[in-house]
Amino acid sequence: MTVEPILAEEIAERLRTVRFGRPLQVHRRVTSTNDLARMLAAGGAPEGTAVIASEQSHGRGRLGRRWTSPAGGLYFSIVLRPLLPRERWSLISLAAAVGAAAGAEAVAGVPIKVKWPNDLLLDGDKVGGILVEAAEETAVCGIGINVIPPAGGTREAQAAWLAVRNPQLSLTALASEVLLECERRYVRLYEDAPAVLAEWRSRSATLGRHVHVAGPEEIDGIAEDVDESGALLVRTAEGVRRVLAGDVQHPQHME
Ligand code: BTN
Repeated sequence: MTVEPILAEEIAERLRTVRFGRPLQVHRRVTSTNDLARMLAAGGAPEGTAVIASEQSHGRGRLGRRWTSPAGGLYFSIVLRPLLPRERWSLISLAAAVGAAAGAEAVAGVPIKVKWPNDLLLDGDKVGGILVEAAEETAVCGIGINVIPPAGGTREAQAAWLAVRNPQLSLTALASEVLLECERRYVRLYEDAPAVLAEWRSRSATLGRHVHVAGPEEIDGIAEDVDESGALLVRTAEGVRRVLAGDVQHPQHME
């Protein structure tokens, strides 16, 4: 598998968005696109400003984890200035997850599901993730999609790579389509948030399954639904628990 260069001009030519990716910075390798986007946001960059890289040296994941970002992947961050009430900002990452899933599915031709809150799954393995970092009036929405497995490196367990399933995949097409689909869901959050949640439910690999939530509290039960602010509702022996953050596992032995 070869690492295709990702070129700003080619993405700009294909881009069909109104705001997302306007303006757009494209880099070969950065520390973390979230770092660059946060700096741009602090300097007053408009909503939609995006930073794309095909490699990161210090990619970050949720819950303080590292996000392995080998060359040839798609790592990008969008500056947002949400006008949604603060308690609804958690919907941004669910909207980004369904947008990224729809874009990646269309370009790669493989089915993508979402795991609460915002993991992208291909055949049950993690192929992408979202990290939204908020500061005052700004949120930076970072999206990472695994494309090419690390050369000669040990592959992470339970990780999937789009180019393994579709070696013809174009990073440029993937970037422009994911930006478009994410923009559509972000706009829809203002117009019809229940429609975004309905789409999340229809792509969900979590609902209806036994889950173990590792976090401040350990919770075991059946994932029943997500509520209007994106919290996961888990039916436990003690009743329904509302989960706002944490790491959801699907224990195989319970299914
Ligand atoms: C997760 O699933 O834990 C979230 C992963 C988010 C990774 C993306 S890659 C682009 C942006 N820059 C980062 O350092 N992280 C996000």
